[in-house]
Amino acid sequence: MRTAVFSARRYDRTMLAKANEAAGHELRFVEDRLSLETAALAEGCEAVCVFVNDNADAQVLALLAAQGTRLLATRSTGYNHIDTGAAARLGIAVVRVTDYSPYSVAEFAVGLLLAVNRKIARASARTRDGNFDLDGLMGIDLHGKTVGLIGTGKIGAIFARIMAGFGCTILGHDPFRNPAFEDAGGRYVTVDELLSCSDVVSLHCPLTEQTRHIVNAATLAKAKRGSILVNTSRGGLVDTEAAIEALKTGQLGGLAIDVYEQEANLFFQDLSSTIICDDVIQRLVSFPNVIVTGHQAFFTVEAIGQIMQTTIASITAFERGEPLANRVPEA
Ligand code: NAI
Repeated sequence: MRTAVFSARRYDRTMLAKANEAAGHELRFVEDRLSLETAALAEGCEAVCVFVNDNADAQVLALLAAQGTRLLATRSTGYNHIDTGAAARLGIAVVRVTDYSPYSVAEFAVGLLLAVNRKIARASARTRDGNFDLDGLMGIDLHGKTVGLIGTGKIGAIFARIMAGFGCTILGHDPFRNPAFEDAGGRYVTVDELLSCSDVVSLHCPLTEQTRHIVNAATLAKAKRGSILVNTSRGGLVDTEAAIEALKTGQLGGLAIDVYEQEANLFFQDLSSTIICDDVIQRLVSFPNVIVTGHQAFFTVEAIGQIMQTTIASITAFERGEPLANRVPEA
C-alpha cells in the first residue's frame, strides 16, 4: 500500500524499511511534520504514518481524505495529536502501537529520576571540565521514600516494580485498578493523599481533556514540599509555568521531564545553532535541579523494532481488509 511517512528521521527510514522488507509497501518518507502545509505530500497515499508531534486535526484530516487517505497509522501509543472524531466522520481508520516495550519508558523514567536526584548530568559536565568538586551534587537515598504514580497502566506498573526494588513505598492513582501494579506492592490512594505523601511523583497517564494540566498550581501546592516530579508521559499533563513557580519557591525540589507542552516546535531537531525563542524551556533548563530530555524514553532498539513491525502489520491488515488489532476507538 502506498504510504506517506511523516516526521521520518534517519532511524525511522532504516527501521521501517527493514520491517517492510517482506510486506513490500511503497513507503514515501517525508522529513517534515504533517501539517496543513505538508499534507499535499501525501497525495495519492492510501495510508499516512505519523508521529507524536504531527498535526492530524480535523482540517488536515479533511485534506488527507480528499487526497484518498483511508488509514492513519501513528508510530506511538498516545494519539492525542489526532482528531479521532473527525477521522471517523471522514472514514479514515486510525491505528496506533499499543504494545511495545513498556520497559523502555519505565526504565528511562527511573534514569531521569536518578539523574535529577543525584545530579548525574551536572557531575558529568563538571568532570569533563576538570572540576571534581562535590558541592551542589548531594542527593537523597530513594530507599525508604514514597513514590506516587498518576497512571498505573503498563508503564506505570513496571516503574512501580522497579521502584519497589529500590525499597520505596509505592502509591498510585488511576480510575482503573491494575493487578500488576498491586502485585508490585502498589497501593491505590486519592490524588490528594498521593501528592501529600510522595517524595517522588511520576506521571504515567495519557493526555486527555481530563488529564490536561493535571499538575497545576493548586496540585503543586498540595504536594510534599521539596518533592521531585518526573514526566515521561505527555507535556500537556503539566502546567509548565506553575512548575517553574514551584521550583523557584522550593515547593518542587526537582523536575525531570522527557516531554514538554510546547515540544512540537522544538523536539526531534537540532536547534543548537539557532536562537530558541521559547523562554519557558530556556528558563526550565537554567535550573540546576531540572533535567530535560527530548522525548526519547521510547528510543530503544527493542521498542523501535516493535513499533515499526506493528505499524507495517497494521497497514498490511488494512490492505487485506482484515480486522485491525490496534485500532483507536472512535471518539
Ligand atoms: P496504559 O494505557 O497502559 O496506561 C495508562 C493508564 O493511565 C491507564 O491505567 C489509565 O486508566 C490511566 N489514566 C487515565 N486517565 C487517568 C487519570 N485521570 N488519572 C490517573 N490515571 C489515569 O498506557 P502506557 O502504555 O502505560 O503509557 C502511558 C503513557 O505514557 C501514554 O499515554 C503516553 O502518553 C506515554 N508514553 C510516553 C513515551 C515517551 O517516549 N516519553 C512513550 C510511550 C508512551
